Parts: sequence; structure tokens; C-alpha cells
Amino acid sequence: MIVPHATDTPVPARTVRKAVVPAAGLGTRFLPATKATPKEMLPVVDKPAIQYVVEEAAAAGLDDVLMVTGRHKRAIEDHFDNAFELEQVLAAKGDAVRLDAVRDPARLADIHHIRQGEPLGLGHAVLCARRHVGDQPFAVLLGDDLIDPRETLLSTMLDVRERHGGNVIALMEVAREQIHRYGCAAVEATEEDGVVRVTGLVEKPSPEDAPSAYAVIGRYVLDPAVFDVLERTPPGRGGEIQLTDALQTLTVDGTVHGVVFDGLRYDTGDKADYLRTVVRLACARPDLGPEFTDWLKGFVAELESGEGVVRRRPAA
Ligand code: UTP
Repeated sequence: MIVPHATDTPVPARTVRKAVVPAAGLGTRFLPATKATPKEMLPVVDKPAIQYVVEEAAAAGLDDVLMVTGRHKRAIEDHFDNAFELEQVLAAKGDAVRLDAVRDPARLADIHHIRQGEPLGLGHAVLCARRHVGDQPFAVLLGDDLIDPRETLLSTMLDVRERHGGNVIALMEVAREQIHRYGCAAVEATEEDGVVRVTGLVEKPSPEDAPSAYAVIGRYVLDPAVFDVLERTPPGRGGEIQLTDALQTLTVDGTVHGVVFDGLRYDTGDKADYLRTVVRLACARPDLGPEFTDWLKGFVAELESGEGVVRRRPAA
């Protein structure tokens, strides 16, 4: 059974309180759906992807969340705000379950918004958070990158930051031929299982140039020192200010650690991965899972028999 990131579970007191969620990218890989809707608002079963991300931050004890939004600011702002008319209608009907579902997003954390005027890159989006974050360490969770609600990656990263200071990034081993889609880390082992020292970073290298098969995924715990470095970081790959380039500078001081993650992670900004996310999370839902899984098994059997793609009527 899937347990959503449980916000009512006690979490250890930590120094990191703030999360930054960049959600201002153009989402070109998901056009035309993302023409008028941010990709972070695409539904994963019945919640927008970004809600899972905020739930994850809240479950790790981060009670202040800054969204960095772009030209589709309204949809994201509205989702994490109250919806009086809707709430009144549901309250009048006595529909407590849906009323909670409508109210939950606004109750997850103290949510703030800032606009990235132009999508100048992830590094630039993080820099937009400087004034809000101040001089405290903070987490960054990419708004289209989902970690399965059953995982505890962010908490582990926050613990590593408490022990080592500096910056902590999340790494996942991928097939060499996939590494050109990610930032890639050169690493050294530490005495801790699953924690590495990051000695170099390169954004989207070719498989031949990649220093390892460790891909950087969308969770970071950063020291505020990163802001000065970002200010000085020139546009890199794709003409964008890359967070990876700023972190590469910080690896020289030995202040970047990596947590190696081998759990379930989904890139909902990628069409195929988005579909896998919806199917996996739907199957794990107690209310939908059993019926949907039965249907899915039947559908797969149809596909295997060659029938599924040509049938006009869907399997019951
Ligand atoms: P992506 O690398 O997925 O880029 O951004 P993108 O532009 O959003 O999408 P595609 O590649 O065109 O389909 C990773 C994360 O960084 C945010 C995105 O919203 C996403 O959460 N981002 C990216 C920004 O907030 N600002 C930017 O300028 C770029």
C-alpha cells in the first residue's frame, strides 16, 4: 500500500527549514500539453506532480516552500491557495473527503512564490530564491522530478548535511548511454555506505566523456555560499546558467557530498516516464489500485496476443 509522504509523522529538528521548488522551465519536451499549463501541474493520478514534491518537502520537516514560477504562475499559485467557492459548495454538500483534498495543498507548508522573469536556467532559478533564503542552508526540489512517496531520500540528504555541512546532491546510477541526459558526478567513496565525496561535475556529457555513470537527480541541499558562486557563473550548456556548473566550482573546496539513491524516481517532464509514473502510482493506490491492476493485466495480455493495439473497444 502506498503511504503518502506523511506530514503528521514527527521529524527530527534540523537547521534546514526552507525548500525552493524551481518550476519555471518551458517544458518543451511535453508540448503541446505544456503550451498553457506548466508541466509541474500535469496530473499524476489525481494530484499535480508538484503537489507530491511539496508533500515530500513537508514530510522531511521543511515548512517553508518557495516556488520559482514562470509565465504560468497563476495555475501553481491557485493550486496552493484556498478556493473559497469550491470549498463552500463542498462544505454545503457535506463532502468532507473532497473538501480535504481541496484544502490540503494550502496546508502543507508556508508557501511563497517568486517569478523568474526569463527561463535562464536552473542555476538562475535558484539564484532568484536568494533574498527569500537568506544565509541559511536550504533544499532544492525540482518541480517535475518525483521521488516515490515511499522513499526517504530527502531526509537522508538533510542528515548528511547536518553531519558534513556544505552541499549534498542526490545521485542515481544510470545506463552509460543515458548519461547525456543528466549532470554527471565524479566521485570518491567515504567511510559511510551510500555517501560519496563529489570531486567533479559535468552537465550532460557524452558517454565517452562521462566520469562515471552517476547522474545528478532533482534533489539538493545547498549551502548559501552557492549564491555567490551562481552570481559569477556564466551561461553554460544551452546558453543557460547551470546549477551543475556552480556546484562544480564548489567541488574544488571539497564541500559537495552525494547520496546514492537506488529507489524509485520519475521524471514527469519526460513523456514516457510520465506515463510510467501514473501507472505505478495508480497501481499503488488503495482506492484505485486493485481494479486498475486487474485491468492492466488484461491489457498487457491483449498486447502480448497482438490484439490490444487494434481493438476498438477497451477491455472491460
Ligand atoms: P528541465 O531541465 O526539465 O527544463 O528543468 P525545462 O525547460 O523545464 O523542460 P524541457 O527540457 O524544455 O522539456 C528542470 C527543472 O528546472 C526548472 C524546471 O521548471 C524544472 O523543474 N527550471 C528550468 C526553471 O525553473 N527555470 C529554468 O530556467 C529552467
